Amino acid sequence: MAREKDASTFARLVRQRYSRRRFVQASVVLGSVVVTGGISARAVPALSRHVFEEVPRGVDETHHVSPGYLADVLIRWGDPMFADSPQFSPRHQTEAAQLRQFGYNNDFIGFLPLAGLPDGTTRGLLCVNHEYPSSRHMFPRGLFDRLSQDRREQSAVELAAQGGSVFEVQRRNGRWRVHASSPFNRRLSALHSPMRLSGPAAGHERLRTSADPTGQRASGTFANCAGGMTPWGTWLSSEENFQDGFIGAVPDDHPEARNHAMYRIGADPYSWGTHFAQFNVALEPRAPNHFGWVVEIDPMDPASVPVKRTALGRFAHEGAEAVVARDGRVVVYMGDDLIFQYVYKFVSRERLNAGNAAARGNILDTGTLYVARFDVSGVVDWLPLEYGTGPLTPANAFHDQADVLLETRRAAKLMGATPMDRPEGIRVCPDTGVVYLMLTNNAWREVADAANPRAPNPSGHILTITEDRGGHSGLRGQWDVLVRCGDPMDVAAQAHWHPATATSGWFGCPDNCVFDSAGRLWVASDGNTGADGLWGVETRGDAKGLAKAFFRAPVGAEVTGPCFTPDDETLFLSVQHPGALPDGDFDTPVTRWPDFDAALPPRPSVLAITRRGGGRIGT
Ligand code: FEO
Ligand code: CA
Ligand code: CA
Ligand code: CA
Repeated sequence: MAREKDASTFARLVRQRYSRRRFVQASVVLGSVVVTGGISARAVPALSRHVFEEVPRGVDETHHVSPGYLADVLIRWGDPMFADSPQFSPRHQTEAAQLRQFGYNNDFIGFLPLAGLPDGTTRGLLCVNHEYPSSRHMFPRGLFDRLSQDRREQSAVELAAQGGSVFEVQRRNGRWRVHASSPFNRRLSALHSPMRLSGPAAGHERLRTSADPTGQRASGTFANCAGGMTPWGTWLSSEENFQDGFIGAVPDDHPEARNHAMYRIGADPYSWGTHFAQFNVALEPRAPNHFGWVVEIDPMDPASVPVKRTALGRFAHEGAEAVVARDGRVVVYMGDDLIFQYVYKFVSRERLNAGNAAARGNILDTGTLYVARFDVSGVVDWLPLEYGTGPLTPANAFHDQADVLLETRRAAKLMGATPMDRPEGIRVCPDTGVVYLMLTNNAWREVADAANPRAPNPSGHILTITEDRGGHSGLRGQWDVLVRCGDPMDVAAQAHWHPATATSGWFGCPDNCVFDSAGRLWVASDGNTGADGLWGVETRGDAKGLAKAFFRAPVGAEVTGPCFTPDDETLFLSVQHPGALPDGDFDTPVTRWPDFDAALPPRPSVLAITRRGGGRIGT
């Protein structure tokens, strides 16, 4: 087994100071206050830059935020997006209604400030992803048996509930409200949002379908999970688990058979392909090639055609963090969220020219996609995925760059990339330029390696990447482990946190993350023991690795899309799939969050969290 890389110099010191035996004894003596290393949280000064009172551990039917903060429900599944939106009526839901209402399972959130109003009202646009539907929680039992024997309308609702929402929000007298009649408001969905494919794979014969003989047009987007906002004000929406949308299979000798197998196409939890040919691989073998991309959307122009940027590769896209490198080129850091998949970055060929909107428009179409190899020595090398380089040749059935991009996973594997424990959120610290990578978990890992140091790894970890002098556009950096997540009281779990982390502060399964303008890291979880939540995790100084619980989700929910306004006074947060436990459904849910109305099911919602009396969050 490869040597395990230490979390930090601090971690080494802690290990030297506290033997495992002493650690266990100290934990028992000090009970719930202590987590690791035998140091009482009360005994350690408040070193973390995250200054707030923690939310206690636990799980119940509602959410909890740190005392002194308000968590207002801003918008819920089914809420009106337009002046003419029909009222939410979950027992009579239709595709037409859903296309005018906020979608299901809100995930990524981006905020674009707009000029304020003369009366002091603050304004902005929110860009929100809708990841996947939950038929069981969205529809009362038997609803679509009554409407339609073949459940076509149910499929249409589910496809309309995915994609994204752009809408104006206004803050007046301290409270945020949705401005439903704003001309900026827009719904994106799977079937009714024409999009363009651009970059090296656009127009390739492997993208041509019956509905799109050009190979350059898609019907829309779905499975939109995380993403990012670009420095030029566009929204990158990541198509993640697109494979779940398709039914059927192609013969083993079909040209797309290997591609579909690599992406696990045909799993079919939804049966959309029964009613819509584009989701039936037997009828449209190339249709899955329209999905698994990063979609770029201009939120300021509701009439603009979103663009799928094929140069950024095709996989289960999660984070898409766009930064400008020192040399002026645009770099997009990305993760492929599946066990044993990879970490990527795209580097544009052109430099970002702030004065040239036309150049900005296509900057993500030309450049190089790299995949990460994490070496035992602590070096990370970025390997180019370029047709003709190394094994990416006709000998391995790559005949052009489109082949490399359509089968990014296979190309990355052949290049020798490091298989990771589910790369999800990835963000760059605005102060230091260090890249933070959330690795959610991998219960199936049997052999640990340097960058994935536990086997199995049910609780995940956080890696850092510090690029060498080449900066973000360079080919080499240094990696390290910030924390190994999980319960530090469970010695077998080998979790590692700062010893002052309290019982409420540790967590498992880091997923999305964000930096506030002060350069402080906040991490959302998906799969934590008990309830998921949002944690402040210190990244520097004596408190490095100290985590504190700021928000706790209702039962069954995960927390996604944390997003600060530029003044750090508001934190927008997605609560996704509330009540999603095996034994709950629309009729008998385990929670009716957030309405607690007997007529309504649980509803995924966006919260606006502010400080009582105003001020920056966490200070
Ligand atoms: Fe949709 Fe990887 O979370
Ligand atoms: Ca999710
Ligand atoms: Ca996620
Ligand atoms: Ca997740």
